Amino acid sequence: MTAEKGGYDHFMLKEIYEQPRAYRDTMRGRVSEDGRSVVLPELSITAEQLRAVSRVHIVACGTAMHAGMVGKTVIERLARIPVEVDVASEYRYRSPIITKDTLVIVVSQSGETADTLAALREAKRCGARVLAITNVVGSSVAREADDVIITLAGPEIAVASTKAYSTMLVAFFLLGLYMAQTLGTQEEAEIAHILAAMDALPEQVERILAQADTVKGIAESIAKSSSLFFIGRGIDYAVALEGSLKLKEISYIHSEAYAAGELKHGTLALIEDGVPVIALLTQEDLFEKTVSNIKEVKARGAEVLGLVNEGHEAESAKSVDRQFAIPRTLPLLTPALSVIPLQLLSYYASLALGHDVDKPRNLAKSVTVE
Ligand code: G6P
Repeated sequence: MTAEKGGYDHFMLKEIYEQPRAYRDTMRGRVSEDGRSVVLPELSITAEQLRAVSRVHIVACGTAMHAGMVGKTVIERLARIPVEVDVASEYRYRSPIITKDTLVIVVSQSGETADTLAALREAKRCGARVLAITNVVGSSVAREADDVIITLAGPEIAVASTKAYSTMLVAFFLLGLYMAQTLGTQEEAEIAHILAAMDALPEQVERILAQADTVKGIAESIAKSSSLFFIGRGIDYAVALEGSLKLKEISYIHSEAYAAGELKHGTLALIEDGVPVIALLTQEDLFEKTVSNIKEVKARGAEVLGLVNEGHEAESAKSVDRQFAIPRTLPLLTPALSVIPLQLLSYYASLALGHDVDKPRNLAKSVTVE
């Protein structure tokens, strides 16, 4: 068993450490040799069909839905097409407006999640084109979708998803850029600039992983808490949701993720002395706004851990108690880095509490019932 785990104590830790390789594999062959454009030969959707798309629906469950929330921002910013994100178990029952010019993107690591598959079938029944992002070639979702982008995370064994989530982000970056270059919504130089930043991500993840011991120390102190909060704005909020889910899944510590500006509309009542708050501060245009929310929780006794960009530590040190810095990338790409310390945080918190990290209670890797 230890051999299968490649010398790691748990599959989850092994899979966390595989992410630099998984990013490289997911990008390989999908960027032109000159690094200036995305090539997705696996897609059968034509430029003309893509130009006819007036709206995008992203449908998924759990962690895949959180990747979809990042995907929404990526597609809207790069391709300027409106995107809605739905949890698959809700999608069919809300009479979504699905027309022939709707592109439905289903996201599923396993490609077998019953609710996601049912949503895919409903979308096709309504005449939409369906594009799947999945980690499993030949899965039901892959077979039934019109187009498929395979993430090359490799098999994921731990129930808590790590490398499958982060490679979904990479797939969304590639898809968003591909749509932008087809629709002409971004300059060629801008696309090349983003691709160059993507190329640096694997090495940047390695630099974060080299600081795992720092995260371990933070996790051990957080593990003593009965409840904590994750806050962030914009794309940081989507990552906050994933960080909170990961922690709940394997450490069983109650946590909530909140859009930082929404805290004051109720949740602030739950902040009292010593409650840990993890604040994501990677979006520099929103930095000051999030800092004012940090002040709100600090005034009520919260212990704030800031997740910041390298180079911004001096600025954030004025408002947080502790911080962890991630390498600097483009704002749109930060989720591919900021999620890494949050995965490590939940791993080490679960470990400190003596839980079964790879097989958390009540959860299944793939849920094939609706
Ligand atoms: C289960 C797993 C989650 C996963 C979700 C969706 O609930 O425990 O980790 O995010 O299913 O799985 P999928 O394979 O569709 O991405």
